[in-house]
Amino acid sequence: MFNGLNDRDIHNVVLLLKRGGIVALPTETVYGLAADATNPEAVAKIFVAKGRPTTHPLIVHIESFEQVADWAIDVPPLAAVLAQKFWPGPLTLMFKKAHGVFDEVTGGKPTICLRVPNHPVFLRVLKELKKGLAAPSANPYQRLSPTSARHVMLGLGSKIDAVVDGGRCARGIESTIVDLTDVGDGFNVRILRKGPITKAMLEVALPGLVVEEPDEHDADVSGNMFRHYQPCTHASLMSLESMEKYVQDPTKKDKRFAVVHYSTTDWNNESVVFLPQLPETKEGYEYEMFATLQEADQLGVDEILIERPPEGPDWVASLDRLRKATAKTSSRCKEPAS
Ligand code: TXA
Ligand code: MG
Repeated sequence: MFNGLNDRDIHNVVLLLKRGGIVALPTETVYGLAADATNPEAVAKIFVAKGRPTTHPLIVHIESFEQVADWAIDVPPLAAVLAQKFWPGPLTLMFKKAHGVFDEVTGGKPTICLRVPNHPVFLRVLKELKKGLAAPSANPYQRLSPTSARHVMLGLGSKIDAVVDGGRCARGIESTIVDLTDVGDGFNVRILRKGPITKAMLEVALPGLVVEEPDEHDADVSGNMFRHYQPCTHASLMSLESMEKYVQDPTKKDKRFAVVHYSTTDWNNESVVFLPQLPETKEGYEYEMFATLQEADQLGVDEILIERPPEGPDWVASLDRLRKATAKTSSRCKEPAS
C-alpha cells in the first residue's frame, strides 16, 4: 500500500507502471486499476486480476484534452465544449479510436473511451508517467466498485502490484459515459452509462442539442449488462414498509439482514443490522452508496435489503447500479470477499 501524499511513493508507483505493473489508483469517482495503456502486456494483466473478459474495453485516462488527439479520430467540436466544462471530472467521452491504439485496450472495438480524472494523485502519476493509463474500476469482475483503498484491498489485494491510498473518492460512482461517435447528420449525443454528470447538465452545456439517455441500449458496454456491481451477499431492493414485513415472515426467522436505507425509520428487529442512514441528496447518496454496500457485505448477514431510492432524474445513476446489484444471479462470489 502506497501513500498518495508521499513523493517517494508516487515516484515508486510511476516506476512500477513503467515496468508494466498494475496499480490501483484513486480517482474522484471510484478507484481504478491502472496500467500503461501503451503496453499491451501490462493491460492484459488487468483482465487477469479482475477476471474480466478481454472483449470488455477499458477507459484510457489522460492528463488533459490535448491528449485526445493521441487516441481518437473524428473528434467533433462539441468534445472541446464538454471537456472545457467537465474535465477534469466524472465524464468519459467515447470516440472512434486512432490508428495504433492497442486492441487489448479497446477489446478489439473501433472506439475508445477517454477521461481526465479529477484527483490530484492520479493526475500527478499521469504527469510523471507521460503516458495514458487504462483503468477499469478496481474490483473483481461484476462486483461492487471500490471507493476507498481498503475496499480495493478486500476485492483485489492479492492480485495486483500495489494500491495507492488517496482517501475516499469524492463522487463515489463511476463516470457518465457519453457516445460522441455519431454526432451530427441527424445523430445525437447519447449517454451510454448514467453517472454523476446528468442528462440535464449535458443539455445545459450543449444548448440546442438533444442528449439521449436510453434505459437500455445495444452498445457493448459492460456496465450495460443486466448483472453488475454485485455484493457477495444476496441483495434486494424494496420499500422500507415491504422490508418490515419481509423480515417478519416466519420462513425467514433464522435469517439475519443488513438494511441500507436513506429514510428515517424507527422500526427495529433483532435480526436486522441497520447501516448508517444514507444522505437524501444526489451527491451525498452517490458518495456513500458503494461504501455502504461494501460494509453491508462484510457483515456476514444472510441478505442485504436496500431501500429503493426516490424516482427522478437525479436518481437514475444510483438506481441503475442498485438494479444491477440486486439482479438475480446463480453465481455469487466464488471466493470469500476477504
Ligand atoms: O469513473 C470511471 O469511469 C471509472 C474510473 C476508474 O475512471 N472507470 C470505470 O471503468 O468505471 P470500468 O471499466 O469499470 O467501466 C467502463 C465501462 C465498461 O462498461 C466498458 O465496457 C465501457 O466503459 N467502455 C470502455 N471503453 C469502451 C469502448 N471503447 N466502447 C464501448 N464501451 C466502452
Ligand atoms: Mg467497473
